[in-house]
Amino acid sequence: MDSKIEKLTERVALAHLGGGEKRIEKQHSQKKLTARERVNYLLDEGSFEEMGMLVVHRTNDFGMENEIYFGDGVVTGYGTINDRLVYVFAQDFTVFGGSLSETHAEKICKIMDQAVKVGAPIIGLNDSGGARIQEGVRSLGGYADIFFRNVQASGVVPQLSAIMGPCAGGAVYSPAITDFTLMVENTSYMFVTGPNVVKTVTNETVTAEELGGASAHSTKSGVTHITSANDIQCLEDIKSLLSYMPQNNKETTKKLPYELADEIRETLENIIPDNPNKPYDMHQVIKGIIDNDSFFEIHKDYAGNIIVGFARIAGRSIGIVANQPMNLAGCLDVNSSKKGARFTRFCDCFNIPLLVLVDVPGFLPGTDQEWNGIITNGAKLLYALSDATVPRVTVITRKAYGGAYDVMNSKHIGADLNYAWLTAEIAVMGAKGAAEIIFKNEIKASENPEAKLKEKEAEYADKFADPYGAAERGFVDEVIYPKNTRRKLIKAFQMLEGKEVIRPNRKHGNIPL
Ligand code: HXC
Repeated sequence: MDSKIEKLTERVALAHLGGGEKRIEKQHSQKKLTARERVNYLLDEGSFEEMGMLVVHRTNDFGMENEIYFGDGVVTGYGTINDRLVYVFAQDFTVFGGSLSETHAEKICKIMDQAVKVGAPIIGLNDSGGARIQEGVRSLGGYADIFFRNVQASGVVPQLSAIMGPCAGGAVYSPAITDFTLMVENTSYMFVTGPNVVKTVTNETVTAEELGGASAHSTKSGVTHITSANDIQCLEDIKSLLSYMPQNNKETTKKLPYELADEIRETLENIIPDNPNKPYDMHQVIKGIIDNDSFFEIHKDYAGNIIVGFARIAGRSIGIVANQPMNLAGCLDVNSSKKGARFTRFCDCFNIPLLVLVDVPGFLPGTDQEWNGIITNGAKLLYALSDATVPRVTVITRKAYGGAYDVMNSKHIGADLNYAWLTAEIAVMGAKGAAEIIFKNEIKASENPEAKLKEKEAEYADKFADPYGAAERGFVDEVIYPKNTRRKLIKAFQMLEGKEVIRPNRKHGNIPL
């Protein structure tokens, strides 16, 4: 018996050692935690149950038979975060650079399969040199097995990917399919081809950080949704993010205890400037509506003309999509449409009600936008909102012009409740543009065209730049004082809790991808 105990003890100890002390030291010297340290920090203390700790690779080429590490470069299993079950895999860079072998992939697939059966989120902590070079095509097969499962699990359980080291080549496509990607600043990167290949093919000189670091992907490409200053912050961000989501697509997010106290928020009365062309920060509106400090912004540094993120309203988790007048006057463009659409899809998959805040002068004009497909991309947001069956509430704070009025969760595309602040302007276009077109001849013939334009602009604004035309037709359900917004929304989302929509029988719609 003693020898049996010894055998197990020895194997467990070796597994815990990963690639050995030296490599662990190197990992720490790069300001990175090891895979096990990450898992232990992420999960509730003592809750982690490891699966496949003693798995080893099956490769005999290139002397690999002499290099055996228990666990084969990935720590997999389940545990809890704030008492909620999650499945997790953490690639261990100290073992063959966290590279993905056939067995490494099998371990990941095993927990993914189980997570889907049980209905619990999957969290991947990526830190890997990519395909295990010694294994060739078997490794590629392993990646594809994971990709396939990412797709099957999509919309069934939330999938979060943290990039905490290298993630290159085809490996990037697993995080790309998952719901949210987080990157650690300065120690992680993602790219399809690295700086050397880039130099050879395009003659561009670029560092790994410039090409695919957290900053590049949070500001330029939008590939990452969240960047975190270090490993610990990243793991904390995962916990926060998860708190807004349910376990799976059949559940709703648990409502946090909340005592009503501050429904009337006077600060909201002073946000909209007198001058309709003056910007203001939509974050102030969000802050004025939601439970204190409950906003978790997604894609904070990307496509700033739209704001998306999670929040709580009287303890309920909601998703917010909001135009941002501070950036491009809040116009919709290619990137903001994609950003809004993707977030909307996530919320709809996982029964998270949507609040849409509108101050939009229209779609951004120009050749750049047209040639980059503002038509197809703008349609993504229109499609995503039209298709969403979760409770949907709209508040128009100021401008709702043209096609963008329709797109931004109008009544016509299925919103449940539409409010307009008394400062709202719901019209085909701004008063100046409208006056220039419809009074063109009159202005031209006038002795003082400038004064005439002003007069006609005022005439048009007086007639249309308000919420009452829409209210008269029932396109908005109520014109409200800004200070009452929070109270209205608390009641609205409570009322909509039982919402159910039966959709036509079809395989799936064809969102304009
Ligand atoms: C096997 C690997 C490995 C790999 C790293 N290692 N990558 N072993 N397969 N892909 C090993 C190294 O030999 C080394 O072993 C240890 O991991 C740490 O690597 P270092 O190079 O010392 O670390 P560092 O200097 O930090 O550089 C990290 C790195 C570099 C930038 C990731 O290792 C690297 O470029 N690796 C190769 C990346 C690559 O080309 N991968 C294949 C991409 S193609 P020792 O024993 O010294 O500790 C791909 C296709 C996927 O992934 C397709 C999916 C569809």
